[in-house]
Amino acid sequence: MTELLKRTHMCGALRAEDAGTRAIVCGWVQKNRRLGGLVFCDLRDKTGVVQVVFDEDIPRDAFETAETLRGEYVVAVAGLVRERESKNPGLATGDVEIRADELKIYAKADTPPIYIRDDDNVDENLRLKYRYLDVRKPRMQRNLRFRHEVVRITREYFFENGFTEVETPMLIRPTPEGARDYLVPSRIRNGSFYALPQSPQMYKQLLMAGGVDRYIQIVKCFRDEDLRADRQPEFTQIDLEMSFVDADDVMEMQEGYLKRLMKDALGVDIETPFPRLTYREAMERFGSDKPDMRFGLELTDVSARAKNCAFGVFADAIANGGSVRGICVPGGAAAFSRKAIDKLTESVRVYGARGLAWMKISDEGISSSFSKFFDADEMKGFAEAFGAESGDLVLIAAGPDDTVFAALGFLRREIAIESDLADKEAWSFLWVVDFPLLEKDDETGGCKAMHHPFTAPNPEDADKLDASPEEARALAYDVVLNGTEIGGGSVRIHDSALQRKMFAVLGLSQEEVDDKFGFLIEAFRYGVPPHAGLAYGLDRLVMLLLGERSIRETMAFPKNQAAEDPVSAAPGSASEEQLRELGLFLRRNKAEQDARNDEA
Ligand code: AMO
Repeated sequence: MTELLKRTHMCGALRAEDAGTRAIVCGWVQKNRRLGGLVFCDLRDKTGVVQVVFDEDIPRDAFETAETLRGEYVVAVAGLVRERESKNPGLATGDVEIRADELKIYAKADTPPIYIRDDDNVDENLRLKYRYLDVRKPRMQRNLRFRHEVVRITREYFFENGFTEVETPMLIRPTPEGARDYLVPSRIRNGSFYALPQSPQMYKQLLMAGGVDRYIQIVKCFRDEDLRADRQPEFTQIDLEMSFVDADDVMEMQEGYLKRLMKDALGVDIETPFPRLTYREAMERFGSDKPDMRFGLELTDVSARAKNCAFGVFADAIANGGSVRGICVPGGAAAFSRKAIDKLTESVRVYGARGLAWMKISDEGISSSFSKFFDADEMKGFAEAFGAESGDLVLIAAGPDDTVFAALGFLRREIAIESDLADKEAWSFLWVVDFPLLEKDDETGGCKAMHHPFTAPNPEDADKLDASPEEARALAYDVVLNGTEIGGGSVRIHDSALQRKMFAVLGLSQEEVDDKFGFLIEAFRYGVPPHAGLAYGLDRLVMLLLGERSIRETMAFPKNQAAEDPVSAAPGSASEEQLRELGLFLRRNKAEQDARNDEA
């Protein structure tokens, strides 16, 4: 067993005022080189890098050992801190170096498969496979520590406000968040399955029935969804629930939290209360229920001008109950060539838009893809409706409202990125409220709850539940930061008659209700307080505060595109014995399965 040299200082902490002190530092060799009679070694730990110098006055064997050091060797060094002759202003410790007189190698290291440098530009899959090496980099060290800070501030704030942290189970019945479940087979009851929680929604409501009053949990959630930059199959929520409150109370508590978080984590003062937009307004102005309000490019509805026109695309859209809307890009006429517009047109097709109509305004007049259907005055009228001036570009989509909003919402974001329109320093928080209670379920053709089935309808719309439930609004709210939904929640139904009605509206049979939610309904029979809550996506929140583009940069061991853990190579196969115990029988043999995986 190696005897340890006990650390006295962290590498990155040494400064000019430490000159003259004896220090023992430990870490990984970043770089080692011999220059004349000296060996220079950059030593790294989580706090940074310090230069260590070995000269030939130290014992011969120590000097010779120093010469053998290679990148990522793990060592301890003892010596005197002294001021450097040539200082390095680019390094926090650049005023000093350690003149080493003792060296201990704890572990040698093979050449690592990735460079331990932030700017190594290596393929992300390789980074994820060797995540423990990737985590040695300053950026990942910073991100993990920042995430830890966010968690600390979060707990501090909510604990101060009377929230109790309670853990809820991971092996449960499916939760109604609407994504695909991860299932876990039961050994004791073959043929039965647990689901991993998509959120602790029903448990936190049970805790309100249990008199916990204010609940918080920083909790893993599991959703078998396709991966995106801001989505992972396994992610973390800051999950909250409060009793005897209404929506305003919840929102006010959250504004207090986000204000504190921004101040303590980033030193940024933000204004509260946040602006509130209704869902309808958000869609009509920004084409999104999570609008980025750091830039303009708002949507304009020109349906009235396009009604009964000779241009079939416009006229048909309106005749079929849709609309014609567009955005004006200031200075876009020159910035967007025909080819660039074609590219944008192609990119909105995934949203169901059949195309984009456009007009370019110049001092000479208006050139447009649809000018042949309108006279000059009418074209001018369009330009005026958009407030378009010489040099501007107008892009127009026509079709069902959903499609038009999705296409223009996308275009708005895309153009803002391309033209760098968003103020990078701005923190634009807002609430989106008055969500519809229901949305179309593309799979069944019926309705489903937009949030979840326990979300209370707006009492003003109670009478709509029978005749026109699709028009009813929910007491639900989302909090949005710079165009990303960081959290969402709602006031819950705590009245059993209303809950029954809601299930009926959703078309759930009594059997389905009993099977999925029976235990919650029963719990509510024994006295449940009015309650409301919300959950944040912790990973997303941290990503935005750090200015990262992907939530993977905020997680120690994220999953890759194929929902695999590249470090451990999960998911893996199960042994025959395990499958037998679980009562599972795989239909395919291994060769067939491999072929299927390859295809996928
Ligand atoms: P919701 O489904 O809106 O609400 O989730 C809350 C927040 O969790 C984050 N989030 C995700 N983050 C990363 N990867 C994912 N796959 C993912 N899915 C969601 C988002 C989102 O705003 N039980 C309700 C909350 C409530 O009503 O209290 C719920 O889970 O930032």
